[in-house]
Amino acid sequence: MKYSEYSAVIIGSGAAGLYAALKISEHSNLPDGVLIITKSALGESNSKYAQGGIVAVLHQNRDDNVELHVKDTQKAGAGLSDIETVEAISQASDEVVNDLIKTGVKFDRNENGELLFTLEAAHSIRRILHSGGDATGKGIVEGLRNAVLEDKNITVMENSMAVELLISREKECKGAIVFNELTGEHEVIYTSALILATGGVGQLYKFTTNPDGATGDGIALAYEAGAAIQDMEFIQFHPTALAISPESKERFLISEAVRGEGAKLINKEGEQFMSRYSDKRELAPRDVVTRAIYSEMKKEHSSNVFLDASIINPLKLMNRFPTISAKCKTKGIDISQKPIPVAPAAHYTMGGIKADVSGKTSIKGLYAIGEAASTGLHGANRLASNSLLECVVCAYELADYLSFANLETPKKIDEGIKKMIDVYSRSISGREYDIQALKSELKSIMWNNVGIVRDEASLIHAKKEVEKLKDSFKRMHKCLNRDEYEYRNMLIVASIVIESALERKESRGAHARSDYRETNLEARHSNIIKTEEKELIYA
Ligand code: FAD
Ligand code: SIN
Repeated sequence: MKYSEYSAVIIGSGAAGLYAALKISEHSNLPDGVLIITKSALGESNSKYAQGGIVAVLHQNRDDNVELHVKDTQKAGAGLSDIETVEAISQASDEVVNDLIKTGVKFDRNENGELLFTLEAAHSIRRILHSGGDATGKGIVEGLRNAVLEDKNITVMENSMAVELLISREKECKGAIVFNELTGEHEVIYTSALILATGGVGQLYKFTTNPDGATGDGIALAYEAGAAIQDMEFIQFHPTALAISPESKERFLISEAVRGEGAKLINKEGEQFMSRYSDKRELAPRDVVTRAIYSEMKKEHSSNVFLDASIINPLKLMNRFPTISAKCKTKGIDISQKPIPVAPAAHYTMGGIKADVSGKTSIKGLYAIGEAASTGLHGANRLASNSLLECVVCAYELADYLSFANLETPKKIDEGIKKMIDVYSRSISGREYDIQALKSELKSIMWNNVGIVRDEASLIHAKKEVEKLKDSFKRMHKCLNRDEYEYRNMLIVASIVIESALERKESRGAHARSDYRETNLEARHSNIIKTEEKELIYA
């Protein structure tokens, strides 16, 4: 097996990973440089597809302030957001977003060069910056990716997947095992700062806005390593994904900003139904709008409702939402004339690896940032466009924290780690699996039983079905290829989501239980930690 050493290793190249690499690379305490390991091409990520924008509480936006943003975030979070975290992230947003701009990220401006702010659901004012109209993620990722490629201190390893964390007997993270898809080989990477920026778990669900890579790898790896995992029952279902046909898996996002600019939701009868569910109508928090659509769809036995954007000036519509307009056009829909068929789809993971604002997890040497982490910012339901902000603020704070750390790569590797490495140097054989069919089966189980509304019976059913899938898959450690590793990780994370959802006997934010409709005001975060000794796995 090939061995290498880096001062800091970042897994993932979305907004969180790219920006962390750049900020860490600015420091002088890096004897062995910075490495980014990423599953496919550099920058391929959920971040790249972000549409609506990024929250920025900027001093030049006179209508806005930290207090107001904190209030909106907490309200959307259904009482579960951690106040210190929300305040810290909101306060840092001015400095960090301005730094992003200096790094080369371009946001949309008016003819006087002033930044343009948009509105999304549950924000009390316009405070969201966007890029390319509705292609904010592309703008951010391109700006950061270009800067990373110019940085001589950063090495990039593409088409490579972290598949196991190296944890010492003292419970410290010392690196990772990485599967290189191009060579088919496993490699060992040592580091004293291993940063998981691996994104969320949208691919656990049959219908999702997330691209293929969102299989929860980092959360599965951290769980297996014994890190605390928080709030995984809170999966955000975005209300409006393009739903051309009931079974088509493609669920292209129709940004909330379209509603922010005035579009209305209508049912099959053409009725604007949102006023029956919330006085905020289309701009109610995401979980509320999603459940309203779910309920209309059930009532009408239909697989979608419609979003009518024809109310918006056609020229503004095309300029402001070029990506969405173009996508709908390919499906024969002129959005200035015709309502868009939409339905909810899994979109965002509020839970994740428990971490503080500077990415520190419950394991020394292991850090988590971005969607893979759960800092307590989003509570039970994320406020729109707060995710990209969290990605960049936590990356910035982590780099600041690491600038004072000793980043000498580990010199002594103990027996436990040697045993782990040994597992991956042995060859494996056995039957071939139809991974695409297995992934589909798992995604249907999750969609049908652990979806927008759950109850004990559906969750217990899902638990049994996932156990059966786990029993029949004999590669819960070393696998043959990326698909198998992703499926392995999806099984691990599915069990965590189900277990957390069973434990939370209340309805709150994105976790709606038809058998426990009330919110339990006493309830706080859920935490899951794998307790069995890691070595037992390899016995
Ligand atoms: P990601 O961007 O998902 O990046 C994860 C990276 O890790 C990828 O490069 C992936 O390939 C890599 N990776 C994963 N596992 C491994 C592994 N085992 N080994 C190596 N590499 C691995 N949020 C907003 O705030 N505003 C928006 O407008 C917005 N719009 C959105 C639109 C869409 C369609 C989607 C899907 C999400 C949107 N979100 C938005 C949410 C937001 O984009 C994400 O939460 C955020 O971008 C996550 O960034 P990240 O860097 O944490 O993870
Ligand atoms: C959207 O544009 O609706 C997505 C924004 C987000 O997920 O924050």
